[in-house]
Amino acid sequence: MQERDNRQMFAPLQNDTFLRACWRQPTDYTPVWLMRQAGRYLPEYRATRAQAGSFMGLATHPEWATEVTLQPLERYPLDAAILFSDILTVPDAMGLGLSFQQGEGPKFERPVRDEAAVSALAVPDMERLRYVFDAVTSIRHALNGRVPLIGFSGSPWTLACYMVEGGGSDDYRLVKSLMYSRPDLMHRILEVNADAVALYLNTQIEAGVQAVMVFDSWGGVLADGAFQAFSQAYIQRVLRQLKTEHDGQRIPRIVFTKGGGLWLEEMVNSGQPGHITPEVLGLDWTVNLGRARQRVADRVALQGNLDPNVLFAPPAQIEAEVLRVLESFGRFPPGGGAGHIFNLGHGISQHTPPESVVALVEAVHRESRRLRAQG
Ligand code: CP3
Repeated sequence: MQERDNRQMFAPLQNDTFLRACWRQPTDYTPVWLMRQAGRYLPEYRATRAQAGSFMGLATHPEWATEVTLQPLERYPLDAAILFSDILTVPDAMGLGLSFQQGEGPKFERPVRDEAAVSALAVPDMERLRYVFDAVTSIRHALNGRVPLIGFSGSPWTLACYMVEGGGSDDYRLVKSLMYSRPDLMHRILEVNADAVALYLNTQIEAGVQAVMVFDSWGGVLADGAFQAFSQAYIQRVLRQLKTEHDGQRIPRIVFTKGGGLWLEEMVNSGQPGHITPEVLGLDWTVNLGRARQRVADRVALQGNLDPNVLFAPPAQIEAEVLRVLESFGRFPPGGGAGHIFNLGHGISQHTPPESVVALVEAVHRESRRLRAQG
């Protein structure tokens, strides 16, 4: 696909707090955005989805995708926007036949379960994902420089889980059976996925995303040893291929392995030659941020990690839990940056009361300013 030229087309960035935190530069307060911030907990999202007919109807039409990306920003003073799309667009473009049954989650019509299906896998033509890149450019224009836009992809392993299982899973039986009985086939799937993800993210960068995030949502279901071989190694293969700069701007990389807290040191440095350390590691709620910060010796920024279920409590408890997370991260050096991006430890629940997010975002901004003033 031809590199499209977007230079000089986008408005200058007005709020760079999120990007500064990614680079561990000083910020006046802790920036916040929420995984799945555009979605079913917002009545305006449900209304737009009804107009578009379905989730994929939203995702495949750049005007709809733009509208729903901006919905949470109209309600809350969030510090970043995230592209409205899904991690499963990549296997769909590989020809697996994605559908979302309402209330049932994603399904693939043609899961990858035998040698023939694995042999047939290939990096898809990015033209098949043009709707995603068009959405990116359209969102950048609509944002008009308000906040940066984050692009994303699934990790090679997390995509493989859905591709082999054919949908969500409770026990990962099929994908782990393949991994343990035919590791050669599993490695082949992961190679194709890694190259597809790298090309997909690079094309998002060319279209205008200002940071990229790899969702390794199911890395944490792997055994020690298997995580390194089947998830981490292929995230590294993605990172090695990513553009680190576009249009004169450096592009920070966020890696989020849910359940990956035990492997933090290795994610910063695996000891393998050529290891690439992402700028930001996402953490779930099982990890203490202050201890994580010591373990990674402040070499990366940390993103997280409020339990999304806190949002079912009244505002006073939400504020108390926000303060606990901010305090657990700890102090900022005077005038310096330490690199904390506030987020949830996983995606926001569709049952979340929208008012809870008001309390959350206000508390993060207010309390983090206060803590910095205290030094
Ligand atoms: O964060 C955002 O606001 C951007 C949009 C976004 C979606 N999916 C929209 C979506 C992002 C970043 C994702 C990532 C994604 N998708 C992940 C990784 C993050 C995570 O939660 O671990 C995963 C595993 C998926 C796969 C997926 N997509 C599932 C399992 C489901 C159905 C169940 C569910 O949790 O919603 C989806 C559908 C989906 N993707 C919806 C949205 C808003 C709901 C679809 C609807 O409107 O019915």
